[in-house]
Amino acid sequence: MDAEHPDERIVIRRAGPLVGEVVVPGAKNSVLKLMAATLLAEGTYVFDNVPDIIDVRIMSELLAAIGVRSEPLGEGRLRLVNTGEISPVAPYELVERIRASINVLGPLLGRYGRVSLSLPGGDDFGSRPIDMHLKGLEAMGASFELSHGVVHAAAERLHGADITFEFPSVGATENLVTAAVHAKGTTVIDNAAREPEIADLCEFLVGMGADIEGIGTSRLVVHGVEPGSLRATDHRVVPDRIQAATYLAAVAVSGGEVVLRSVRPDHMDMLLRRLRDMGLTITTTADTVVIYDNGRLHSIDVATLPYPGIATDYKPLIVTMLAVADGVGIVTENLYPGRFRYVEELQRLGADIRADGHHAVVRGVRQLSGAPVKAPDIRAGAALVVAGLAAEGVTTVAGVHHIDRGYDDLVGRLVALGANITRSGV
Ligand code: EPU
Repeated sequence: MDAEHPDERIVIRRAGPLVGEVVVPGAKNSVLKLMAATLLAEGTYVFDNVPDIIDVRIMSELLAAIGVRSEPLGEGRLRLVNTGEISPVAPYELVERIRASINVLGPLLGRYGRVSLSLPGGDDFGSRPIDMHLKGLEAMGASFELSHGVVHAAAERLHGADITFEFPSVGATENLVTAAVHAKGTTVIDNAAREPEIADLCEFLVGMGADIEGIGTSRLVVHGVEPGSLRATDHRVVPDRIQAATYLAAVAVSGGEVVLRSVRPDHMDMLLRRLRDMGLTITTTADTVVIYDNGRLHSIDVATLPYPGIATDYKPLIVTMLAVADGVGIVTENLYPGRFRYVEELQRLGADIRADGHHAVVRGVRQLSGAPVKAPDIRAGAALVVAGLAAEGVTTVAGVHHIDRGYDDLVGRLVALGANITRSGV
């Protein structure tokens, strides 16, 4: 992959409409958290529907450094073994590579009473502090010291607390829940994030013996159980709504008719509504989405919001669709400062976009024109690939390692739908 092949590019030429079926893999932002949660109890876990992505490998390395071994079993299955020999230290070389490394904090603190964790990295699209994680854990009795870029956390045994988030942070919700499962007493988290991946994590924890009420809502109530009483269990990872959205966007800009399988349309409700507003025909069953185009897309205005709103991770795809739609669309980013870096790359493809602060004004053009571009992060990288499908001539996307962090064989899946796309430079 690109980590070993820095010259690697994805090369895209415009093809006709996309036709066929895609089986959508499991969600990166669920599996990484499930993997971290195996620190909570000794035993053997088998996860199913695990995407073949770089971030899973990095999380495996991080967990191996702490004491949980993992082994791919093939066909999307991953076995993890927690033997109980845990060293609650998360080293910088691994932590700085993925934001989800912060998810080891809650389980380790709740189970072992101490953690040393380098401040996490991840995508470079603005400041991503962890103050809400630390404040919540402090309310449960933890103390923190920061020295030389490492957070040292300690707690005798965490106790329950009433916590109200000022903003429904995904990572902070997950860390508090995974800490609270072993706390003494009850923890109530109000204004909790309610992304489907958090519900997936909570259901996994309940399968391990945790006591959690309000799963999928913004008020989570966690009754702590005795440390040592949780047990390992198997789990199927929830489908990836962002990967699913990528294939929908690909059809939206290329035309065609595609069936997505192994998806949860109910987790994408708002997005599907807005895609219908853009003129696409979309039908669903419990685990499939069928999409087909009706000619040129119509522009819409979109604002990103925590779930069930339009996810910030969909936004580069939405901007790409608007770039070739009929009319003008205004996109407002409410989660991250400065997550519009890919706009310059889309402009290189001929898109007419003005981004300022949290807003982008996108004037649709009939045709993009292929050019060399560079993926600045996972989601923007995938959006540039989608843009390439709508561009006349050849588009080459560099920075492929970003895409490989979160996409399981994006190129192969698009080829199977008839796209003219390949990886080169290996
Ligand atoms: N925030 C704070 N303080 C905190 C925590 C968050 O100010 O203590 C701010 C962040 O700086 C950011 C906003 O709150 O501006 C959202 O952060 P949140 O904690 O909700 O997000 P996250 O847990 O860091 C996860 C996903 C992101 C996704 C966001 C929002 C993972 C590993 N990452 O990040 O996914 O964009 O939720 O939905 O689950 C991706 O997959 O490409 C990706 C970036």
